[in-house]
Amino acid sequence: MCGIIGYIGKRDALPILIEGLKRLEYRGYDSAGVGILDDKKLSVFRSPGKISSLEKALGDSTIAGTIGIAHTRWATHGPPEERNAHPHADCGARLAVVHNGIIENYAELRASLESRGHTFRSQTDTEVLPHLIEEEQKKKSCDLSTAVRSVLRQIRGTYGIAVVSSEAPDKLIVARLGSPIVLGIGTDEFFVASDASAVLGHTHKVIFLDDGEMAELSRDGYRIFSLDNSKIDKSPEELDWSAEDMQKNGQPHFMLKEMLEQPEVIRNSLRGRLDVENGLAVLGGLRDVAERLRHIDRLIIVACGSAYYAGQVGEYMIEENAGIPVEVELGSEFRYRQPIITENTAVLAVSQSGETADTLAAIREAKMKGALTLGIVNAVGSTIARETDAGVYNHAGPEIGVASTKAFVSQLTVFALLTLFLGRQRKMSMSYGRKLALELQRIPDLVQSILANRQALEPIAASISGAKGMFYLGRKYNAPIAFEGALKLKEVSYIHAEGYASGEMKHGPIALVDSSFPSVVIAPVDSVFEKNKSNIQELKARGGKIFSLTDEDSGDLRSMSDGIIAVPKTVEMLQPILDIVPLQLLAYQVALTKGFDPDKPRNLAKSVTVE
Ligand code: M6R
Repeated sequence: MCGIIGYIGKRDALPILIEGLKRLEYRGYDSAGVGILDDKKLSVFRSPGKISSLEKALGDSTIAGTIGIAHTRWATHGPPEERNAHPHADCGARLAVVHNGIIENYAELRASLESRGHTFRSQTDTEVLPHLIEEEQKKKSCDLSTAVRSVLRQIRGTYGIAVVSSEAPDKLIVARLGSPIVLGIGTDEFFVASDASAVLGHTHKVIFLDDGEMAELSRDGYRIFSLDNSKIDKSPEELDWSAEDMQKNGQPHFMLKEMLEQPEVIRNSLRGRLDVENGLAVLGGLRDVAERLRHIDRLIIVACGSAYYAGQVGEYMIEENAGIPVEVELGSEFRYRQPIITENTAVLAVSQSGETADTLAAIREAKMKGALTLGIVNAVGSTIARETDAGVYNHAGPEIGVASTKAFVSQLTVFALLTLFLGRQRKMSMSYGRKLALELQRIPDLVQSILANRQALEPIAASISGAKGMFYLGRKYNAPIAFEGALKLKEVSYIHAEGYASGEMKHGPIALVDSSFPSVVIAPVDSVFEKNKSNIQELKARGGKIFSLTDEDSGDLRSMSDGIIAVPKTVEMLQPILDIVPLQLLAYQVALTKGFDPDKPRNLAKSVTVE
């Protein structure tokens, strides 16, 4: 995701900013830029691609200046191009802004600014900020921090921002709402960043801004205040974390950090996309193809690995709630057979990276055969995102852990939105749409409660870690969750785990079961609960240990089980979003128990760009 670094002091800002950007590289980004003030002269350099490309763009130019801001951008609005990279400037190129987050009402603000003569140079939501600040200063001839305060009150959405202006060459303004900003307190110099890892090379004394707070920094000091200009007293704290710890937000592994981010990830996937009152999903990325989607009579989902399992959950969601026939195909199989595609077929690629070769090949094949192509993609501007006709971004942020966790959960969330979108175009009633929308809004808190209870999984992890092999079983919506749960365990603990639809287990695989071969059975109290219980009895009769993932209403299932993985309850269609979370945590815990590093699973690559 995007990163911010800023400096004000007595040293040359440029090398400090470039070094700070490099420390933020781990977050993932697709373009970078710097803005430096030398007295009243503002110089801005930006470049798509890596920081090394920005350094090339800077060439030998010696840019003096002891105040500046810089940014790594992870594209959301507009592809990764120079014009969309930050900093963004006002019409007169006098002030520069870097921004993390999303401004939800940017389209209306932009239209209104354009009608008042402002010229925009990018496709970003961010660019409204410098123009609004310019407008405010023109109207009220106020100082920079007053203008920024007033602009932030017009914004809907989230932001971490840093602003410099040639008209206030001794000031650096920052603000935070939903996107982190930290101040680094040096001796006669100050730093700002979206992530303390960017400043730890210079100081360990930091102040974290809270939502709704702003700061004005000069070479002599800083002042923290609220959007209504009330003074806020905050003392610096001393961080004893290393830069590496900071990148993981103090967590021991990226895998854990990313699992813990899931409530926020789901909120980000949902943000601005639910019209609860009308029971609708608002998916801007599908607007241009909405009429074509109303007439599709078949949907083929193509994906690999975890994304394939997310697609299988999507299949159940869409068939049951929108009434469209859906098939899910492995990307690697799709183009080597003769898939039947008519003009009313849509082919949907699901991919975190947007670069998986098998999925990309499948979508190219579908396009060649005349299908409408769609994407559920996390990496903005990636090849699959660019080559599909339309799509929905996950907004999960960069996933560094090789074993997919937060991206998978965001894929399920987007499938729920897509189901609402397609369902409401067809048979789904407004009241059911409303119910789903309201329930979706509850999901982040329910996931949070699972994460908070993660210690309860430790005894089960200890028991599983000695197994020679095991089953993950589930029915209906939870069959693909069984597949994904087994994949997670295989990837990080190297225990041979097989996912099966519960009912299939008796057709052969049950031959494996004995007292050393445990099963995790995903059995929430839903429309297939009783069937799952029968399968559990079949396993028990052969001496198998049972760990049941279930909710509080599960009654006698508890006494049949050797351990319970407790999850809260939601509507059946959304239950998989909750059920996968403890299975991810369990795999992580088993890896630790066995002494493996879950961030470095053997033989695996994060993005598989070969066939
Ligand atoms: O980037 P993609 O979502 O297209 O990647 C697909 C698979 O390679 C990926 O989900 C893989 O299975 C993960 N390692 C699962 O944890």
